[in-house]
Amino acid sequence: MPATPTTARGAVITGWGAALPDEVVTNVDLESKMDTEDQWIRDRTGIVQRHVGGTTAGLSAEAGRAALDMAGVGPADVDALILATTTPDRAVPATASTVQHELGLTSCGAFDVNAACSGWVYGLVNAHGLIAMGARTVLVIGTDTLDRITDYTDRGTGILFGNGSGAAVLEAVDGPGQLLGWDLDSLGEAESALYAEHGGVLQMEGREVFRRAVRLMADSATHAMNSAGVTADDIALVVPHQANIRIISASLERLDIPLEKASIVLDRTGNTSAASVPLALADALDAGRASDGDLILFVGFGAGMSAASAVIRWSPDAQEYTGAGGANDD
Ligand SMILES: CC(C)(COP(=O)(O)OP(=O)(O)OC[C@H]1O[C@@H](n2cnc3c(N)ncnc32)[C@H](O)[C@@H]1OP(=O)(O)O)[C@@H](O)C(=O)NCCC(=O)NCCS
Repeated sequence: MPATPTTARGAVITGWGAALPDEVVTNVDLESKMDTEDQWIRDRTGIVQRHVGGTTAGLSAEAGRAALDMAGVGPADVDALILATTTPDRAVPATASTVQHELGLTSCGAFDVNAACSGWVYGLVNAHGLIAMGARTVLVIGTDTLDRITDYTDRGTGILFGNGSGAAVLEAVDGPGQLLGWDLDSLGEAESALYAEHGGVLQMEGREVFRRAVRLMADSATHAMNSAGVTADDIALVVPHQANIRIISASLERLDIPLEKASIVLDRTGNTSAASVPLALADALDAGRASDGDLILFVGFGAGMSAASAVIRWSPDAQEYTGAGGANDD
């Protein structure tokens, strides 16, 4: 278990953004493509519709731009761009490089992270590490265009997945910042439960993923809360990976956290992999669901099988941006 972060230089989220492609595929639309029913999908997953289309770079740029605008951060001020994705537009280069160019980030490192649906939380934790080491501003984007690796005629997988992007800007502050505790996890022995070969589509053992996901989410969240020195009762808002409402519900039950504390967008988006946690975060923050001092628990899981969690103390008015010591300063 990681120790509680003690850095004298911390990070706060100062902006966020979301992007969904225009084209919507409803459960009813899927009825003509496979042997399924709208009501079955709603009952077994909580999903009503998903978005398809767009590119990983295009959606990332849209969400990233919105986050930078909200934070009031100029393109020259971003030291690093982390793009969590399982569906990069090309094998080489990293899609983060395309996004960095599209956003006009002139003095910025850029790299992709593939930790499947846990990817954005992996990126969030790594961004805190970069800031502790001297970065001033880090843009963390989670994007997936899963329609490119989903067989929409296969009822075992085609009902679940969609496209989207979410982003957050992290800025350096004097003092410990928002992060209280974190956990990164991987269960490589379960990799065959969910995978896609190069050029192939997602293959999944649904029941096996479900069973492992509930335990992984609860264990990872517990490790992060222990690392933060807080308990389930202290958590005001949970931002979980949006795979299946029954997985979220069962894992929160294990954690003894009421489902009402969770941000849920999967009814509108389906499972958007690396985008799902930042999309659910943006939705909750836009709705004013986080107040100053609230504890937010992020918890992701996915292929790998991977898991990642983080606990932050929300502080919307943090204005102590140091503005000093950027790694890419000329
Ligand atoms: C895929 C998933 C929704 C299937 O739900 P389930 O309750 O496990 O369903 P089962 O596979 O046990 O199938 C139950 C029945 O529904 C049927 N069924 C399966 N998919 C169906 C569909 N899309 N529409 C209608 N019926 C379906 C099955 O054939 C089975 O019928 P039977 O009882 O006559 O044999 C569920 O296993 C799941 O969400 N797993 C986790 C997947 C996930 O989140 N992956 C991403 C992780 S990041």
